[in-house]
Amino acid sequence: TIAANACFLIFGATGDLARRKLFPALYSLYREGKLEEDFAVVGIARRARTNEEFREDLYQSIQEFCRYKADRDDQWERFAQHFEYKSLDSSNVLGFHELRELTNQLDVKFNIPGNRLFYLALGPELFGSVSQNLRSGGLLDSPGWHRLIIEKPFGYDLKSAETLNAQIHEVFKEDEIYRIDHYLGKEMVQNIEAIRFANAFFEPLWNNKHIANIQITLSETVGVEERGGYYDKSGALRDMGQNHMLQMVTMIAMEPPSRMLPEDIRDEKVKVLRSLRGYSSSEEVRNHVIRGQYSHGSHKGKDLPAYREEDSVNPSSTTETYFAAKVYVDNFRWAGVPFYVRTGKRLPVKTTEIVVEFKNVPENVYFAKKSVLQPNLLVIRVNPMEGIFIKINTKRSGSESVIIPIAMEFCQSCEIGHNTPEAYERLINDAARGDSTYFTRWDEVALAWSFVDRIAKAWSEDASDLHHYPAGSWGPDQANNLLADDGFKWWPVN
Ligand code: BG6
Repeated sequence: TIAANACFLIFGATGDLARRKLFPALYSLYREGKLEEDFAVVGIARRARTNEEFREDLYQSIQEFCRYKADRDDQWERFAQHFEYKSLDSSNVLGFHELRELTNQLDVKFNIPGNRLFYLALGPELFGSVSQNLRSGGLLDSPGWHRLIIEKPFGYDLKSAETLNAQIHEVFKEDEIYRIDHYLGKEMVQNIEAIRFANAFFEPLWNNKHIANIQITLSETVGVEERGGYYDKSGALRDMGQNHMLQMVTMIAMEPPSRMLPEDIRDEKVKVLRSLRGYSSSEEVRNHVIRGQYSHGSHKGKDLPAYREEDSVNPSSTTETYFAAKVYVDNFRWAGVPFYVRTGKRLPVKTTEIVVEFKNVPENVYFAKKSVLQPNLLVIRVNPMEGIFIKINTKRSGSESVIIPIAMEFCQSCEIGHNTPEAYERLINDAARGDSTYFTRWDEVALAWSFVDRIAKAWSEDASDLHHYPAGSWGPDQANNLLADDGFKWWPVN
């Protein structure tokens, strides 16, 4: 499907996100024919830049980060001429009037019917004022549709998210707002629905009668890179837990929607968030959530600094760079099934994986004497490798009845290479087509914050449960006890 013809206004066009993700996504869409010639992109930021310089930045970003490479040929020239740069102080309404003039000219030049996609790759403190100025500057008066894409973090807690939401809602309606959670744009996260609802041997088992526990791991090898200033205020819980992690929980746990339509799917996800068991005391938080911060360590022979030594991080910071939690979805389907989730920086591998551990067969009468049966597992590999892995039991060939686990593996990324569309490509395309399925609705955001706020509050009262783990390790040992107490273990990733 082809993205609608629109003028894209990217605020924060000289920033990291634009360079690493947004420009490459637009170029891939163009190369795949999903953007035809009737579009324009205005890059907006404070610093001065000529169009030529901006297009050169664009070229460099594509060469470095895009799955398609550009040649400096006619095709490139054609693509690049859709891009203009506008230097703008986002608090100055006058600049927005000029921006309106520019977009009106681009409408004529590229035959665009007034559609506008505003992409705010900015700090959340600017979302409200930029929205207001878009209106005051007349940018919402064009004849077509107007949509706003907003990056995370959507606030710092429920209260700040509410304020932010109210500011944006003064200008945009909920169905015009597209809140990005880029994990929802990942191929295998979108595939969860298909795996669940298109398979006769999973769908009937997808409940507490047959599933023992669910494990979700989002591990990263990187530290905080150049983002120490942001990360030290945020921490792993807000940076990954409130959004990506809980979104994956909802995709795994939701009821089959009545139709595969945006609002039906999002309604089901909201019900999961409403069913999350909130920790009722600081003690309960401590028993269910383990937090850690990396100390000095090493990875593949490389010496790594402690978190507290990273740039722009407070040397006595108690911000968590890791957390693991035991979460319950208190509804009929999931009562009693623990969801173990964990995420961290400076862990040994970069991976996102979901493990569904099934309950063992009721009575292991036949094989128990000779073998200990391993549980069946379904592993959904999200990132960077994409695929599905199933562990089942069979008789060891040649033995009488020794049972061994075997793996059946479908490696999607091996079959088609890493050339699947990037999350941002899908999401920009979806927003331009008006499909909000894989964006987060306000009620999802609010419920996710209320769940996370309870943990953050308990942590802010007392930091004595912050564990230090060596950079390059799997995090604090205490995270193993979360599962061991229930008779489970983290299944090794990859
Ligand atoms: C971002 C977080 O949302 O997701 C980063 O802010 C994190 O801290 C990133 O590194 C991980 O995304 P991905 O797609 O590389 O798994």
